[in-house]
Amino acid sequence: MFQQAELAAIRGKFHFVDHDPEGRRRLFFDNAGGSLRLKAAEAAFARADAVPDCSEHSNRVARQLDELERRGRQDLLECVFDAPGGVLYPSYSASQIMMELCRVFSENAQGSNVVATALEHPSSFDGMRHYAGVHGREFRVAPVNPATSGVDADAVLSLVDRDTAILSCMYASNISGCIFDLERICAAARKANPDIVIVCDAVQHAPHAALDPEALGIDAMTFAPYKFFGVRGFSAAYISDRCASFMHHRLLAKAADDWSLGSPAPAHYAAILEIVSYVMRLGAVPGATASTRRDLFARGMGRIAAHERALLRLALEGTDKEPGLRSIPGVTVRMDGSPLEQRDFIIGIEFGNIGCEEAVAEYEKRGVIVFERSAKSLYSRRMVEAFGSQGVVRVSPLHVHGPGDIARFLHATREIAGLVGS
Ligand SMILES: Cc1ncc(COP(=O)(O)O)c(C=O)c1O
Repeated sequence: MFQQAELAAIRGKFHFVDHDPEGRRRLFFDNAGGSLRLKAAEAAFARADAVPDCSEHSNRVARQLDELERRGRQDLLECVFDAPGGVLYPSYSASQIMMELCRVFSENAQGSNVVATALEHPSSFDGMRHYAGVHGREFRVAPVNPATSGVDADAVLSLVDRDTAILSCMYASNISGCIFDLERICAAARKANPDIVIVCDAVQHAPHAALDPEALGIDAMTFAPYKFFGVRGFSAAYISDRCASFMHHRLLAKAADDWSLGSPAPAHYAAILEIVSYVMRLGAVPGATASTRRDLFARGMGRIAAHERALLRLALEGTDKEPGLRSIPGVTVRMDGSPLEQRDFIIGIEFGNIGCEEAVAEYEKRGVIVFERSAKSLYSRRMVEAFGSQGVVRVSPLHVHGPGDIARFLHATREIAGLVGS
């Protein structure tokens, strides 16, 4: 875990860690819905966004904006995706990118079936399903293993064969936090069909670990900066050389592998530069050597992952002040079957006395922001029902939080379960 002084410094770099915009004390444990923001990213965004110049024009300030974009793109490919030679596809939201990838890949890949998992976000699940119908392919879905709350590699691989055109497999679930065994899945899927196109939604995993699409042999990987300490209204994907030239929406005079469409927004790249630099500073541990900027970035993400996993353990097992979720009577931790090393800190809990929507409101009364993932929502019905649940309270802190925050959350949980007075 981060030592106290470092954690205090980290907290100082983020907006609204302890209070809401109206100054009320609160604990923000809904980072899977949109994370706490890095002050430097917000400030850099505002500085660049105030400049009216068109970065594609020739005047001096326009050139500076263009350079900002160039560096931001480079950081995304080199540090975030570890794919300096890959192609970047920027757009407004990860859902838009994913739907477009499903369309383009479906038009270009060969085979009579496509495979997705039951935990995919609706943007990939529905995109894969829709375009499977358009192209007359069988749509195969790998089921959830209720014991682990993930999707087993074997369940995915049993559906992949020589005729699988596309495999869509996310990096980590936005409901259970379960990390997929992509190493095994991608290697075996490509062995079954060397021409398979593999697409991966890394939106929820990106704030918790370093991404590595090329090492895994993935053709497209998406992420969303607003879940990764950054700004809403921007998303980006890595695309492999192999797939980058598939015909996609583009101005025809541009290069076949150019996926940018319309005026660039340099302010978003300015924010990315700050996020990458923040993570690299976390990775700059005295005494440890790093030969590349990516190494530093990956080490920074590794430290974030280690801290969050230690917090996850405290939330489940308890702190010195509070019993953990696993031992609070009337509270059930759902999707708790996998080893902690295979999970990001996103957990779902249920209360015996009240439903998830009511529980979320009770948390808010106590200054804790969490979110319900309910069977009533189109975004979560398929997933929570796969876990045999009607809905859970999703709890998703960030690495800026510490043991005191976990204790406060656990205390609120005991109050809501009716075990201690408010
Ligand atoms: C796993 C996952 N994929 C994709 C998305 C969609 O991201 P966006 O809001 O940028 O479309 C989300 C959003 O919550 C998500 O959790």
